[in-house]
Amino acid sequence: MAAQDRSAPAARAVGLSKAYGSGDTAVLALDRVDVEIDAGRFTAIMGPSGSGKSTLMHCLAGLDKPTGGEVWVGDTELSRLGDKQLTRLRRDRIGFVFQAFNLLPTLTAEENITLPGDIAGRKADAGWLAQVVETLGLQDRLRHRPHELSGGQQQRVAVARALAARPQLIFADEPTGNLDSRSGAEVLGFLRRSVDELGQTVVMVTHDPNAASFADLVLFLADGRIVDRLMGPTADTVLERMRRFDSRGAKPTTATTD
Ligand SMILES: Nc1ncnc2c1ncn2[C@@H]1O[C@H](COP(=O)(O)OP(=O)(O)O)[C@@H](O)[C@H]1O
Ligand SMILES: [Mg+2]
Repeated sequence: MAAQDRSAPAARAVGLSKAYGSGDTAVLALDRVDVEIDAGRFTAIMGPSGSGKSTLMHCLAGLDKPTGGEVWVGDTELSRLGDKQLTRLRRDRIGFVFQAFNLLPTLTAEENITLPGDIAGRKADAGWLAQVVETLGLQDRLRHRPHELSGGQQQRVAVARALAARPQLIFADEPTGNLDSRSGAEVLGFLRRSVDELGQTVVMVTHDPNAASFADLVLFLADGRIVDRLMGPTADTVLERMRRFDSRGAKPTTATTD
């Protein structure tokens, strides 16, 4: 079940727009974005602050509603779903790793990991959970509370929680943003292995060329549009690509205008 059909996109956006506010104060966070997220691949999203990275992730994950265009998760178009159906799709098919961990301090690591399933009244598959915990190296930390864990361990618990229900699609918004380089490497190594060994699809926002180099593909966002993409990134090629953007990050200097 973990391995997916690699030919069908796990998610896609068609002409996806998102405006916040209205009138003079309206902000167009996404401007007619077309993108396919390949199943069984690790995709990184990069771009200047305010370029729409989080908004794109939230819309693709059904956490935020577009103001234009369509979002598909597998063969389901999200705007056709009612609130209950959307909640169920998010719960069953999508895992989201928030930058700030969002762990509950009074619960142990294990309780945090199984909480979403507990709330939904569904027990996680024990074999799968054991595999996730082992791959993340959390066996010896399950009884600890968040304050007894390092930042990297807390982030790995947050990743385990997103994976526990065995979602097809994992979104991680700057999952290494708060971590030292060793902890960051632990989390990135796990996300990579979850794609290679567990067959997951991962989409990750990052500012860090080294983090992006763990991905199969990097999408570059500027002003709410995808302006570039890079297959098989290395830290050097990502850096080189970032240098092509001007200081405001508004336009790649080598690109033609539309
Ligand atoms: N809830 C919101 N209300 C109003 N404007 C928002 C909201 N969320 C994001 N924005 C604006 O949308 C644009 C894109 O934001 P965001 O997706 O958070 O960018 P990024 O994650 O790339 O930093 C920014 O101009 C931001 O200020
Ligand atoms: Mg963001």
